[in-house]
Amino acid sequence: MGLIVNFESLLSDRLAPALEAVAGHPVDPAVRASPHADFQSGAPLALARELGRAPQEIAAEVATRADLAGLAEITVSGPGFLNLTIGDDLLAESLRLTGADQRLGVPATAAPERIVIDYSGPNVAKEMHVGHLRSTIIGDALARTLEWLGHDVVRVNHLGDWGTPFGMLVEHLVDLGGAADHSIRDLTAFYQDARVKFDTDDDFRTRARLRVVALQSGDPLSRDLWQRLVAQSERYFLDVYQRLGVTLGPDDFAGESRYQDDLPVLVAELLAQGLLTDSDGALCAFPDGFTGRDGDALPLIVRKADGGFGYAATDLAAIRHRVGTLGADRLLYVVGAPQRTHFEMVFAVARKAGWLPGGVTAEHLGFGSILGADGKMLKTRAGDTIKLAELLDEAVARATAPAIGIGAIKYADLSGDRRGDYVFDWDRMLASTGNTGPYLQYAYARIRSLFRKAGTGPGPVTVTEPAERALALTLLGFEPALRAAAGQAEPHRLAGYLHDLAVAFSVFYERCPVLRAADDVRASRLGLAELTARTLHTGMFLLGIETLEEI
Ligand code: ARG
Repeated sequence: MGLIVNFESLLSDRLAPALEAVAGHPVDPAVRASPHADFQSGAPLALARELGRAPQEIAAEVATRADLAGLAEITVSGPGFLNLTIGDDLLAESLRLTGADQRLGVPATAAPERIVIDYSGPNVAKEMHVGHLRSTIIGDALARTLEWLGHDVVRVNHLGDWGTPFGMLVEHLVDLGGAADHSIRDLTAFYQDARVKFDTDDDFRTRARLRVVALQSGDPLSRDLWQRLVAQSERYFLDVYQRLGVTLGPDDFAGESRYQDDLPVLVAELLAQGLLTDSDGALCAFPDGFTGRDGDALPLIVRKADGGFGYAATDLAAIRHRVGTLGADRLLYVVGAPQRTHFEMVFAVARKAGWLPGGVTAEHLGFGSILGADGKMLKTRAGDTIKLAELLDEAVARATAPAIGIGAIKYADLSGDRRGDYVFDWDRMLASTGNTGPYLQYAYARIRSLFRKAGTGPGPVTVTEPAERALALTLLGFEPALRAAAGQAEPHRLAGYLHDLAVAFSVFYERCPVLRAADDVRASRLGLAELTARTLHTGMFLLGIETLEEI
């Protein structure tokens, strides 16, 4: 017998021919886990009107026609649902196979893709803000998950390390004597001081403008100081990643500056293809279908009137590089929702230019904002942007262990649909009950402590009690949950699954004594506990949430 884990799809496959025979056309059996049976299909109710027959009658006919031998028992419920119950032996056997598999019944993909994930992307000499936090946490969960599923994942940290602000920042560093390591320990203050000077001091402003030109034309001193600023910032970002348990490393930095030499070539290629229009001296692309509020075509500025290149040009160059040189099959961008139009326009121009060929997909995975208790963008009490390092300090101070504080922040971000906003609420995210990181960490630690007390290991699983059955079925739902999370780039599906699993375990643990049970039953229940712990551990690892052996 092969590995049976995805009962939803197995049952669907068996029901589909029967439904088609009754309906006269293919019908989605829509098999779902159900509190009324192991699984349920509502397809007969959906067909009733079309066929002009009572749903119960349709259900009865489907039940007679369907071949579910060796898989499940089928009955018709009151209103006309099909209730499906998996055989006890099959359930136990599926659990055994899942448990015997290191990958918990999740095969590595048969069609691995090279997936470039662009995430985090903070700006040099600037504090990371909460938007970067979300990108970092969500992007890392996706990178871990897709990699574990067998894809070839390339992490790219598209640092904001180039552009006009660097004239001002480098010039400020010159004024401070040039030692970046000391002068920019507080990045925010450094940036703000430079900004104030730029806004109030004419002489400084002139020097800053000359400095940009020097920097961009490769003046060694300017380059050296700029390099120090970048290096110092990278150290700071790496420190944050390490504290967060994020898998981005020093080799993943590929900031905007990397593409500078490609930009003139890129412009030449676009010009040769007739894709650029002169608009008051600036070279712009006008991809089809993008219009502003006034109905006019929206420009994507590729080269500014002063000859400089901006954010859009760099992103075009990055696509050209990621597909042309890195050989990407799929490009993912985990960047806040406000940049949606930017990416759609960049993708459209890249497609036209041939840098994004038909077989390669590019997706902007947007996300909502983190809000304060007042429902507005999260800020400090004084109204300043929150410093990420201070936020992490506070999480650690509030929690019983650093991993719990960090896990709480990450899980709060991952447990809701990424597209939505959410309110940052310490009490809720740190609660040991509910859909929280600490709840999962406690559930895991509880199982580990059970094993320390048991002294003996798990044995073959038999499933008899309803709570054992419910836990068994939930355990077998790992693969579909993971597929859903990866397929839609929706980590909250995996988070929700892990929460359901921890709840199913706690119900089981309350109703079914483990250590006090007779030998066989005890071994079987330890078997269920062990598989639960492994599934929690794997799932939490994929979300980037640390597990603890004891709390
Ligand atoms: N540095 C940008 C920002 O802070 C994010 C970069 C996102 N990635 C990209 N390829 N544009 O908004």
